[in-house]
Amino acid sequence: MLTSKQKNIYLRIVRYAAPYKGIIALSMLASMGVAASDAVLAYLVKPFVDDLIIAGNLGLAKLIPFLVVGIAAFKGVSRYIQEYNIRTAGQHAIQDIRNEVFGHTINLSARFFTNNSSGSLISRILNDVNVMQAALSDVLVTLLRETLTMFALTGYAFYVDWKMALMAFVVIPAAVWPAVAIGKKIKKFSRRGQDAMGNVTSVLEQSFSGIKVIKAFATEDQETQKFIRENAGFFTFIRKTFRYSAASAPVMEIMTSFGVAAVLWYGLDRVAVDAMTKGELFSILAAILLMYTPLKRLTKVNNTIQKAIGAAERVFEVLDNQAEIVDATDATDLSRCQGYVKFENVDFAYDDDLVLRDFSVVAKPGEVVALVGPSGAGKSTFVGLLNRFYDPQQGKILIDGYDIRNLTQSSLHDNLALVDQETFLFNDTLMNNIRYGRPDADTSMVEAAARQAYADEFISQLPDGYDTLVGDRGVRLSGGQRQRICIARAILRDAPILLLDEATSALDTESEAMVQRALGNLMANRTTFVIAHRLSTIMHANRILVLDQGEIVESGNHQELLDQDGLYKRLYDTQFEG
Ligand SMILES: Nc1ncnc2c1ncn2[C@@H]1O[C@H](COP(=O)(O)OP(=O)(O)OP(=O)(O)O)[C@@H](O)[C@H]1O
Ligand SMILES: [Mg+2]
Repeated sequence: MLTSKQKNIYLRIVRYAAPYKGIIALSMLASMGVAASDAVLAYLVKPFVDDLIIAGNLGLAKLIPFLVVGIAAFKGVSRYIQEYNIRTAGQHAIQDIRNEVFGHTINLSARFFTNNSSGSLISRILNDVNVMQAALSDVLVTLLRETLTMFALTGYAFYVDWKMALMAFVVIPAAVWPAVAIGKKIKKFSRRGQDAMGNVTSVLEQSFSGIKVIKAFATEDQETQKFIRENAGFFTFIRKTFRYSAASAPVMEIMTSFGVAAVLWYGLDRVAVDAMTKGELFSILAAILLMYTPLKRLTKVNNTIQKAIGAAERVFEVLDNQAEIVDATDATDLSRCQGYVKFENVDFAYDDDLVLRDFSVVAKPGEVVALVGPSGAGKSTFVGLLNRFYDPQQGKILIDGYDIRNLTQSSLHDNLALVDQETFLFNDTLMNNIRYGRPDADTSMVEAAARQAYADEFISQLPDGYDTLVGDRGVRLSGGQRQRICIARAILRDAPILLLDEATSALDTESEAMVQRALGNLMANRTTFVIAHRLSTIMHANRILVLDQGEIVESGNHQELLDQDGLYKRLYDTQFEG
């Protein structure tokens, strides 16, 4: 029923259930109980008809109600044990998959996240993994129980009259074949539906995080239309899966009716010539009718498997993505470095066009190197490269003489403190946001960092102080407040290399001057790279690099650059006009 590729995917899903084989085995045992109960029920029809109704043996009559309840109770308990355990095992496995996918994804490199929308990733981890769950719990439940039931009923029917049983069963393959064809269609549309669900999640995620822009530009209707469109896209595909899955039960039902008709046609003849009892005929009919439910469920299982395989493909696609940036096998664990930073003829392109060209710079501990230049010149890219978010195509980046490609990423990052151009805060308390890169820091350390970042004043004015929740991405704070929290976070991290990418751009001149002074103390025995458009921020740097289109076009201190009368002078004049 499955191609070999599909089988591999399915087996890969099932492997996640392996650690839970104990409860799965218990569940299997219970499902034998369920199957046996059905066979016994079919078997009971014969004495009921022959001995009770026809022969009028009333002694047995007293027994049968008890038997019916007894069997039902036994079947019920077995079924409960079976369902509860198999579902628990399935959910365990799903939890494991979800954790693995998240753990894997978060370790993937920067490029992966520029190429995959967060909406699509969220959708894979939530929706697709959910669909996969059916492959484990529902399928294992049904496959097991219904197959066993089928076997028990078939065995019984053959035992009663093999010729009649055979007649009833030739229709089964005929019923299974359309079910397989239907399953294929379902898989195709289900995979497309899941892709479409990714788009729906994407719109949701974008709309809620961009709510301010939406309101300011009054594009609520436009966004609503976009959502309706994506939602309808999902509906189109999911409806196609309904078209096929709805057909599968009726097809089965019609096929089964052929089996029943054949048995009746032949069986009534046999009863007429006394070759079999009426009880046996009804008993076989009961077996065939009882078989209808498992058969129907089994074809549904095929559909569920197909859907789950489609979803699993999307999940495994993420899992099979290898991180682009990985630690070398013999990577050095850099302890606290001194702070010598060297870029040696670095060429770098995100895609095809070089963003940094033959870029070389040397910085010593205690030095403050500033990067200025027009937007898009490559300043943030420089910071990203030093963090090894990407590897350069040409040239080397060295810290204390070590090529950063030969350092473990965690030790590299331990030596860097970054205040990014895009301030990001977690929806947590101010205390935890500042402590983020240094979980062991105590309250007094956090408060000291906040003071240096000139943040304690506004924090102490908040009713909940350091326990204030900042909202998603810090929405409850002003832009300047957010920046100060990010600076405090970097200060607390206490790393030998400090990277400030437009770290004070949202502060008023007065508080910027204060933060600068605090950072000044901090920079004393560290290497600092400062990026700023506002030249007053970087005027006092030891060295200023002027970047234009990925190249260093000028370098020197403030006065030297003014004397050079180039791009820096022009930028300076425009900013300090009048
Ligand atoms: N993830 C990315 N994928 C592809 N191109 C990128 C990516 N990030 C940046 N770029 C491109 O690289 C160039 C340099 O970008 P970068 O962010 O380094 O500029 P910048 O000097 O920091 O500018 P700004 O002053 O506006 O912050 C730009 O042309 C930008 O379009
Ligand atoms: Mg930038």
